[in-house]
Amino acid sequence: MCGIIGILGKNEVAPQLVEALRRLEYRGYDSAGIATVDGMRLDRRRAVGKLVNLSDLLVHDPLRGKAGIGHTRWATHGAPTCDNAHPHRAGGVAVVHNGIVENFRELREELAADGYHPQSQTDTEVVALLTARELDRGASPRDAALSAIDRLEGAFALGFLFDAEPDLMIGARKGSPLAIGHGDGEMFLGSDAIALAPFTNRITYLEEGDRVILRREGAEILDASGRRANRAMARIDVGATLLDKGGFRHFMAKEIAEQPAVLADAIAHYLPDGLHLPLDFSDVDRLTLVACGTAHYACHVAKYWFEQIARLPVEIDIASEFRYRDPVLSPRQWAVFVSQSGETADTLAALRHASGKVGKTVAVVNVATSSIARDVDVALPILAGVEVGVASTKAFSCQLMVLLVMALKAAHDRGVLDDAALAAHLADIRALPGLMNQAMTVAQPVAALADDLAEAQDILFLGRGPIYPLALEGALKLKELSYIHAEGYASGELKHGPIALIDAHVPVIVLAPRDALFEKTVSNMQEVMARHGRVLLISDERGIREAGADCWRTIRMPEVPALLAPLLYAIPAQLLAYHTAIAKGTDVDQPRNLAKSVTVE
Ligand code: F6R
Repeated sequence: MCGIIGILGKNEVAPQLVEALRRLEYRGYDSAGIATVDGMRLDRRRAVGKLVNLSDLLVHDPLRGKAGIGHTRWATHGAPTCDNAHPHRAGGVAVVHNGIVENFRELREELAADGYHPQSQTDTEVVALLTARELDRGASPRDAALSAIDRLEGAFALGFLFDAEPDLMIGARKGSPLAIGHGDGEMFLGSDAIALAPFTNRITYLEEGDRVILRREGAEILDASGRRANRAMARIDVGATLLDKGGFRHFMAKEIAEQPAVLADAIAHYLPDGLHLPLDFSDVDRLTLVACGTAHYACHVAKYWFEQIARLPVEIDIASEFRYRDPVLSPRQWAVFVSQSGETADTLAALRHASGKVGKTVAVVNVATSSIARDVDVALPILAGVEVGVASTKAFSCQLMVLLVMALKAAHDRGVLDDAALAAHLADIRALPGLMNQAMTVAQPVAALADDLAEAQDILFLGRGPIYPLALEGALKLKELSYIHAEGYASGELKHGPIALIDAHVPVIVLAPRDALFEKTVSNMQEVMARHGRVLLISDERGIREAGADCWRTIRMPEVPALLAPLLYAIPAQLLAYHTAIAKGTDVDQPRNLAKSVTVE
């Protein structure tokens, strides 16, 4: 993960570097650092923890210079200490890195034999040491950096800055994203367009294997074989309001509340009158849906939809497992990659594995300029807008919306859903933002429960059918935000093992709209209550009337058509995690050990 920024500017760059790092903090927040060249002298400042620690340090110990690089870290190799923070420096070079240098052990041994010893435990430092050795051997900064890059195996986005070279910066990209920003007499390097947005909207995305030599007057790009390459420049609109909480206490609260509005945008895009989707499912035999984390749970819901509505067989895969299990792929099958960021390394690697082996690759993606969006045959935007909170909320519901639209289109194309039935579903979908607004009122009763939940050591979530993945999602959200151990189970699976955990201290949260399977879930609730388990039933009025009496607590949701229930029940799952985290006093928007964009395998 990690975020990197580089600026060859006209003014003092330290404040600009910090501003860019603030926009990149979603990529990691274990430590941060910057290096600048002030005339002839390269210098750096680094601080452990959130970016605010670095900005405090810079107040007391400022860095001058109009050229600089910066980094916000999500630790992979080496604990989050100051020594391990980037930029790493050796001799006359400073380096920032996002990714993993896989052959760093061999390189370290080789460098040690030549008298170049690391000061940190990171893989990155070998890049600085390799470059320093080349400089000591008489190479120019440009040649030294390029030959160091040639020695690296693994994934990287890199930025190099040199002593006595205030008009030179070198970048390289393999496996991790990197973009160039074009200013007027200024040039920028950054992990994404969001970081560069305050400075320029003219962006060039580097391709796999590219290296770039930046000077204030422009960029020279070399491809993986060292030949000059032309890469298109695009004008990007990423909005300057990105970091605005809009009056909410946390980005997560804002993003939960935005769901009715962003879903309405997605509905307007895909269902302006009929159903508009640039895909024809008539000749598809099978779908493989691939993603990580919350996006994977969206795929899990979609499996129910594609199979029940469209009778189209679906496999779902966790992206990090997909390519290594060597799946059987065929041209009559499509592979769909679901990702908010569009940069998740496991999902991107899975896409590259499937490309050319399946009939079509499709992305369901939020960031339209991301690597996954650019590499697939068809990219379907989910239109959630920028999601800043590390825990995905509105992106999850928008992913669900696009997957549902896909399932309906598949059903129609395959002749298993007639026009009238399709029209009825579309009418239900158009009413969803209104229902979502109503469901937001559960925030109050959920908040009232949070103190009790915050005391639990373990919490179980149960759901059935398409709501089962919501139990998984509810548990994931709760553990990542409140650090309480939580697990989600299919309601019927409880008796096959997890019921052993039940006692009076374990809250069991049952997500159960009053649907065709409700009675069965009620039996599972009885099994919990018979063992003194505390059941929190989240259901609609009918469900609560029929089964709420003996429950520890109940939360009443609006009635919802069965097809749309997973979208609506995402709201209490998210709010439970949010309010429990507040009750526990954890960092809601930036939970420990996590990062928003997971760009390492
Ligand atoms: C959990 C969460 C993660 C992401 C996962 C995939 O709240 O946000 O589990 O869903 O890391 O990220 P994307 O969707 O960017 O590929």
